[in-house]
Amino acid sequence: MKSLFLLPALLGLAFSHPAPELDPRAAPQIAHFFFQAAATGYNLTVPADGNWYPTNNGLNVNIITALDFTVIQCEFKTHQQQVAYVYQLSGDTFPKEQFAVGPPQPIDAVKCHGYCLQVYQDCVVNGQFVGTCCNGFCAANKCRPYVYPQDIPVE
Ligand SMILES: *[C@@H]1O[C@H](CO)[C@@H](O)[C@H](O)[C@H]1NC(C)=O
Repeated sequence: MKSLFLLPALLGLAFSHPAPELDPRAAPQIAHFFFQAAATGYNLTVPADGNWYPTNNGLNVNIITALDFTVIQCEFKTHQQQVAYVYQLSGDTFPKEQFAVGPPQPIDAVKCHGYCLQVYQDCVVNGQFVGTCCNGFCAANKCRPYVYPQDIPVE
């Protein structure tokens, strides 16, 4: 429940301090999602360009997984009155950022913005912070996965 109240603060932070653009001329980053609806689900690919994209899918989604993006840089639209998005991490070897959707319901549209860096990309170059990590945290100049140190492969 605590994360429900944290979320607006996190979103506010994301909007007031957008990640520095890595290359303003570059095309928008592409975010890949898996929308889980109990034992089934669907995949969706969305350009992170700040526009709404319809999912065109009416399945009752209970978990949204951002496979290669920062889930809090995205917004989701539903047509039901009650919806709570609770931030969590998946249980994979390389944990992914997720929103648990409660109660499960169709997600009508998705909107993402900004850029993020993949695991093992440089997040600090020449002492300068260059961007947010998509699925992990910046340590020793690289984006590290959300895993225990013993699980991190030797580079
Ligand atoms: C979604 O994509 C993943 C990875 O490409 C694939 O393994 C899975 O079968 C897809 N799921 C559906 C429901 O299409």
